[in-house]
Amino acid sequence: MYTQALDSPGKDPVAATGEAAERFQARVDADEKIEPKDWMPEAYRQTLIRQISQHAHSEIVGMLPEGNWITRAPSLRRKAVLIAKVQDEGGHGMYLYSAAETLGVSRAQMVEQLLSGAAKYSSIFNYPTLTWADVGAIGWLVDGAAIMNQVPICRCSYGPYARAMVRICREESFHQRQGFEIMMTLARGGAAQKAMAQDALDRWWWPSVMMFGPSDADSKHTAQSMRWKIKRFSNDELRQKFIDVTVPQAHFLGLTLPDAHLRLDEVSGHYEIGPIDWSEFHAVLKGNGPCNRERLEARRAAHAAGEWVREAAAAHARKLEDRAATAQHQERGSP
Ligand code: 3HC
Repeated sequence: MYTQALDSPGKDPVAATGEAAERFQARVDADEKIEPKDWMPEAYRQTLIRQISQHAHSEIVGMLPEGNWITRAPSLRRKAVLIAKVQDEGGHGMYLYSAAETLGVSRAQMVEQLLSGAAKYSSIFNYPTLTWADVGAIGWLVDGAAIMNQVPICRCSYGPYARAMVRICREESFHQRQGFEIMMTLARGGAAQKAMAQDALDRWWWPSVMMFGPSDADSKHTAQSMRWKIKRFSNDELRQKFIDVTVPQAHFLGLTLPDAHLRLDEVSGHYEIGPIDWSEFHAVLKGNGPCNRERLEARRAAHAAGEWVREAAAAHARKLEDRAATAQHQERGSP
């Protein structure tokens, strides 16, 4: 992720030390919400900009793998639902960019960071959607993982982020169900359909498990983000919750998880998984996943194609401002 060097007068540019920082931490500890105009340590602000903008980019890039299937959805009903879902993701991106803007970064800056390749977005969206079953697997697994990670963010210490997440999570939970329903239809269909569902699970399982980020031992931001209550659970805690919820769902579907080491620990009640291939995760983060280049090219093309819309909207806004200024002059009786 990138680091923005934003000048922000009146805010402590260094770390969280001193009386103001102690008061700030006490407010966080008391579960008070921090609002945009409140004093905050610069590192807290930068951490939020980093996380929220990465999250926003993920929603926007996340429209691409499923958008790929809108024209080929197997029925009108499936197409209507998929269009609505993809639009929801676009809306989530907009709420999140707005939440990040309250911290002093502009949307144009964030978009530039994404298009230049400087900003991270979720690793999961760098995998291809090869069959219709992938749309089901994304809804079930990717949105399922997203909900597990994002419901606790509704209690994040930063007010605008927490409030944006409430609506986002409601919509994500609908997305998860529509994905599961697609998987259930396929799993209960003919042999070819069941095989398609199994193949999608085989390809999406491990990338979904990796979505939660590096293991706690390697996560550089978790400890501080948890002290600030930006994160409420660690990456491994959320990953485990996801696994425990999802494995029985796969069994219910009659599908097999692609992990020979998977076992239920009767004592702890948790599922244990085999080793995660972190080299794949790091390759994707470095831009070498199966679709990294394609995703960025698609975003750059969409941004360029939308240039005239931004220009027209800005011209319209200027016209409205001019009209309002003229009306004010006339009201005051100015010549
Ligand atoms: N993909 C890409 N980068 C990732 C990643 C992933 N799955 N997981 C971690 N990283 C990056 C971090 O951004 C960080 O990079 P940086 O230091 O260069 O900024 C680095 O790996 C180290 O990871 P940490 O665990 O220390 O980082 P965080 O404390 O920020 O935790 C996170 C990572 C759990 C993803 C956290 O940022 C988070 O909870 N973010 C909010 C949720 C989010 O962004 N979800 C993305 C998916 S959204 C989505 O799926 C849309 C839906 O419609 C399906």
